[in-house]
Amino acid sequence: MKFFLDTANVEAIKRISELGIADGVTTNPTIISREGRDFETVIKEICSLISGPVSAEVTGLTASEMVEEARVIAKWADNIVIKIPMTEEGLKAVNILSKEGIKTNVTLIFTVSQGLMAMKAGATFISPFIGRLEDIGTDAYRLIADLRQIIDLYGFTTEIIAASIRNSTHVEKVAKLGAHIATIPDGLFTKLTQHPLTAAGIETFLKDWETFKNN
Ligand code: G3P
Repeated sequence: MKFFLDTANVEAIKRISELGIADGVTTNPTIISREGRDFETVIKEICSLISGPVSAEVTGLTASEMVEEARVIAKWADNIVIKIPMTEEGLKAVNILSKEGIKTNVTLIFTVSQGLMAMKAGATFISPFIGRLEDIGTDAYRLIADLRQIIDLYGFTTEIIAASIRNSTHVEKVAKLGAHIATIPDGLFTKLTQHPLTAAGIETFLKDWETFKNN
């Protein structure tokens, strides 16, 4: 299973990439806007830090606008993936881009049908949103399991990026259900390495070691 970082914060990407467990990065217009920096500059910087796929989202609403934006963004680095919203126009764009060899990540997936349509259109990745589905009381885990079952049944090459991940239970459950990737906000990434008993254990070990050395 792969972990992507769901952030455009370059300092966080640098810090977490040193752990050797960040396989890619995903962004969206909200995430980019939080940094208050130029879109192209940030994406290029992230692509220089991470060798795996880096998703950059288009903002056009028509297929031709999306394709035009995508062709420009795709030239920024070899590891760019174009993030496209799940609409009919989006699928049209994915179909054109996939034939040009440009990788795509179809985002804002909330149903099995949407995922299936995106796979058929040639999406490299699909991003079902776990947290936002839970917000409306829908079983997000069923969606992940069903999408994985369809991929395996028909041999689609599309990979599932479990997105809108907000806590460790989300990460653990989507891992068990066969999401190829979980994209994780940097704050949560840090929390995933921690447990109060780990911290307490280290403190006790060090205290006992000091007592032993001083006797
Ligand atoms: O990966 C998608 C993510 O950025 C959205 O997360 O928490 O705003 O639903 P959230």
